[in-house]
Amino acid sequence: MTKQDLNLNAQTLTMIAHKLRTPLSIITGYCEAVQAQSKHSLEPFTAKALEEISVQGTHLSQLVDKLADFNKVFAIAEQHLKKQPVELKPLIKESAAKALAMEESLAGSAAQADTVRRGTFVETDCPAQLTITADAPLVRLCIEELLINAMKFNNKTEKVIKVQCLNHGNSVSISVRDYGIGIRPQDVNRVFEPFYQVDDDLTGQITGWGLGLPMAQRIVELHNGTISIVSDRGLGSIFTINLPNL
Ligand SMILES: Nc1ncnc2c1ncn2[C@@H]1O[C@H](COP(=O)(O)OP(=O)(O)OP(=O)(O)O)[C@@H](O)[C@H]1O
Ligand SMILES: [Mg+2]
Repeated sequence: MTKQDLNLNAQTLTMIAHKLRTPLSIITGYCEAVQAQSKHSLEPFTAKALEEISVQGTHLSQLVDKLADFNKVFAIAEQHLKKQPVELKPLIKESAAKALAMEESLAGSAAQADTVRRGTFVETDCPAQLTITADAPLVRLCIEELLINAMKFNNKTEKVIKVQCLNHGNSVSISVRDYGIGIRPQDVNRVFEPFYQVDDDLTGQITGWGLGLPMAQRIVELHNGTISIVSDRGLGSIFTINLPNL
């Protein structure tokens, strides 16, 4: 494949994502407006159908956003990163808030969203003022992907996710630990391949593209870092990012 082909593909993907966004936001917008207007007068079936349209619309919007983000991250060159000193603790807090909001948005009803809010915890252990030199929006996106996975591939009623940052002098590590379904050894090496998703009885109905981890890996590599996994099937996973401390 020539570089020209790649550029064309990147442009095409961006255009597809852009074209899908407008009709999608109209569908979800109208759906929410009808739900809000007729809150107490809807037949149970109609209420359920609107709920499902809204959840699937949100889901589709997230798929489109992921495709656009993936495309953006793979199109960027290292020399075009906007590197600046960034404090890790607040950045992780922002990523956690976004991941939680994403999880809630797929919960269907307000009651379910409330259950998610009460049942998912992100505990952060990060030295105050620990700072790295990085492209902040990209690193935020990378941590978000790891947190969303930690919530998504998790069959616990109460989901505890632990983020730990350590300063090793010439590098900084950020690990995201979950106690969810874990990954079998034969799948661990494959999860960074674009579109690879483990398909078995524990993962259930697969959502997403299989693009989050390749995107996270690319972001880390753009910063000359590494990403690794330690996982035990049934017990959970630890994803660790190592970034040079410049
Ligand atoms: N924390 C985790 N625990 C268990 N399995 C995981 C975890 N994170 C990723 N996986 C497995 O790796 C696969 C690839 O992850 P990736 O984030 O790339 O894709 P996805 O989450 O399925 O979709 P997308 O990120 O595009 O929405 C997942 O489908 C899942 O099977
Ligand atoms: Mg993912």
